[in-house]
Amino acid sequence: MTSVQDILNSRRTVYRFTERVVEESSLEMAFKAASNAPCHKQTHPWNYYVLGLETRMELVPTVISMAKEKASKTSGDESDQSVNRAVSKIMDIPTLIAVTTKLSPQDSFREEEDYAATVCSLHNLVLSLWDMGIGSQWSTGSITRHPSTYSVLGIEEEKERIVGFLKAGYPESIPKIEKKSSSEIRKYLP
Ligand SMILES: Cc1cc2nc3c(=O)[nH]c(=O)nc-3n(C[C@H](O)[C@H](O)[C@H](O)COP(=O)(O)O)c2cc1C
Repeated sequence: MTSVQDILNSRRTVYRFTERVVEESSLEMAFKAASNAPCHKQTHPWNYYVLGLETRMELVPTVISMAKEKASKTSGDESDQSVNRAVSKIMDIPTLIAVTTKLSPQDSFREEEDYAATVCSLHNLVLSLWDMGIGSQWSTGSITRHPSTYSVLGIEEEKERIVGFLKAGYPESIPKIEKKSSSEIRKYLP
């Protein structure tokens, strides 16, 4: 069995997945880990929405119009290729999960603590998946913030904020990335 330390130190964001489906039993195990994250005042501010293909299809028109708008502003290339790439980022991912955190418009400190707790929960989910050989990528792309995403997913914008999508699947490749050494990030004070 892999040790917790190995899981923490080996995890990397995965951008390319094989076609293998992520088993529901694995997702359920990871959601249990997500649910066990710390949260102040027991607010449990996180929710996870697993997007099936039907729901993803409903996002496609928005994805296409955003891809065309972006292309016309930058390269001027509105070719099928860039649009197809954008659609593929939603449709061809084995598992796509929207992660939300509870909003507290009357209490900014609560909202900040709740966001921190949601990130703890999300990372529990990520690490639990990694322990099962499943990679993931946290994405904050513009589709995660678009009003039509909230309406397609049935999320009330005044109550919950989508903090990102988690794309998950079995890794096709695992990127190598340099991290700061521990001596660079910590100071022992007298
Ligand atoms: C808050 C947050 C938002 C992120 N959003 C994106 C994103 O929109 N697109 C993307 O490709 N990666 C995104 N990532 C993944 C980071 O790019 C990745 O964590 C970073 O390159 C470090 O690599 P590592 O996760 O392998 O350590 C995000 C990560 C975090 C923590």
